[in-house]
Amino acid sequence: MSDSGAQRRPIVAGNWKMNTTIDEGLALVDALLPLIGSESAVDRVVCPPFISVQAISERLKGSEIGVGAQNLYFEAKGAFTGETSAAMLAGLVTYVIVGHSERRHVFGESDVVVKKKVWAALGAGLTPILCVGETLAERDAGETEMVLRRQVRSALEGLTDTAGLVIAYEPVWAIGTGRAATSADANAGNAIVRDELAQVLGQDVAAATRIQYGGSVTPANAVELLGQPDIDGALVGGASLVADSFAAIVKAAATA
Ligand code: PGA
Repeated sequence: MSDSGAQRRPIVAGNWKMNTTIDEGLALVDALLPLIGSESAVDRVVCPPFISVQAISERLKGSEIGVGAQNLYFEAKGAFTGETSAAMLAGLVTYVIVGHSERRHVFGESDVVVKKKVWAALGAGLTPILCVGETLAERDAGETEMVLRRQVRSALEGLTDTAGLVIAYEPVWAIGTGRAATSADANAGNAIVRDELAQVLGQDVAAATRIQYGGSVTPANAVELLGQPDIDGALVGGASLVADSFAAIVKAAATA
């Protein structure tokens, strides 16, 4: 399934990963506010490290820039040292990244864990940004489509209310490598995700759900990537740490 995407408002999110102290994060949003604070054709989100979430949320209060967390744990509370629950994040953030490839591949999160996290986020009224994507070995083995369909189905099957869910197609080999997918490959991945979404949750949800592309998005390739019909925004790592770069990507989304 593919369509024009005209009804979907683009969403560009910055995943700061394990970068920025609290002061550095505040300086980054202070620099972003005049650049993209009123770029209202695009939903703009920053995802700072947990330690900075409260300070950044305070600083952005009253602005149109949303805040997301980079992770959560699915249990409600208890003896889970170092973890953060959905309830702890509710009220502080609107979004939460779930199943990022670094969580899956560095920290060993399975499809089952990712599913529990998506459901916990939705249950607390948070909007998950669910990340899916194949590794280079999976792509080389011709398994891209199978992997994407499995990750989408596993996380979402059975949901009755997706409440604005966002999905990010992030080929693992494109993340942090400077080697973005071609716009054709990126759009093809997003189209597979949308098709599986239609099969799992129905055409209406698939047509309404925003699917980002992520993996080495920069101001130089953003216009081309974001101009693709099934790409509804970007999840940006490295380039989100530089205010001018992130702003340029937001502006590319506004014009795409
Ligand atoms: P990158 O990271 O833009 O640095 O490739 C993207 C991501 O991991 O979300």
